[in-house]
Amino acid sequence: MTTHVGWGKIILLGEHAVVYGYPALAAAIDRGVTVAPVPTPKGGPLRLDIPAWDLKVTAASTSDHPVARSLAAIADALGVGRPAVSLVGDAQIPPGAGLGSSAALAVAVARALLEHAQRPLDTTTITTAAAASEQLLHGRPSGIDVAIAVAGGIGVFRRSAGLRRITLPTPLRVLVGPSGSPRSTAAMVERVAEATHSVVGDDRLVELGALTDTGTTALLAGDLPALGAALDRAHAVLAGLGVSTPQLDSLCDAARNAGAHGAKLTGAGGGGAVIAIAPRDREADVLAAWRAASVEGFVARVG
Ligand code: PMV
Repeated sequence: MTTHVGWGKIILLGEHAVVYGYPALAAAIDRGVTVAPVPTPKGGPLRLDIPAWDLKVTAASTSDHPVARSLAAIADALGVGRPAVSLVGDAQIPPGAGLGSSAALAVAVARALLEHAQRPLDTTTITTAAAASEQLLHGRPSGIDVAIAVAGGIGVFRRSAGLRRITLPTPLRVLVGPSGSPRSTAAMVERVAEATHSVVGDDRLVELGALTDTGTTALLAGDLPALGAALDRAHAVLAGLGVSTPQLDSLCDAARNAGAHGAKLTGAGGGGAVIAIAPRDREADVLAAWRAASVEGFVARVG
């Protein structure tokens, strides 16, 4: 029995615009969801048990529980039926915090089901199955969460081209602050659709895409102040699209005031998490500023 992982992720730049075909810079964090298949020889339903999330469900496509439906969708996409197995797991990221928890779970589940079925752990098969789950949960996902949850690392994702991995000279340290406020990715994607009337050439979407390019160039050159400036501007544009909240704004301000190069919301917004890039000797100050706002942040090493 092997333990299978799906990585959690942060989006450094380009969320929301990525839905409309623009590039986004995203990275796996060194935390995620792990799942192991435990056969139930006496038979029984296909179960999923993640005690860290108080989650215990049985696969059922008609259930009221979204994860029960998502478990059924993954099993169906893999064509494995409903094997008598309990998928038992652990999670090092909070659910619904904008850190890609649902994609990480879906990827780990797909891998564990393939192992149980004694099938190869083929990347395309895993991606397709996890994408079926994300579609069920989020409506029209760009696929960025699944791409990172499968591949790990850091890269630029485009809807048309998928994930293009990049190699950093040294791993990047990103401060992550889960706000503790729940949010709905689908509702935030809908809000951006209303704000932009889904016009692909909307100036704000164009700018978010351009910031991905600027930020990626800065990151590859090791220019963290320039990367931070791109983060700050992206936060302002996202706030203009209506997906920030007073709490997220104030966590970003607190990070900047504590010496960060830049900060922004990450993922869909409306709650969820913020990220900041800071000089090494100011990281503790940023984390302390967040702690003063009742947010327990952490340092993720990416790349
Ligand atoms: O999964 P979240 O909440 O981190 O958001 C995903 C990023 C969006 O661009 C808002 C949606 C998507 O499907 O790309």
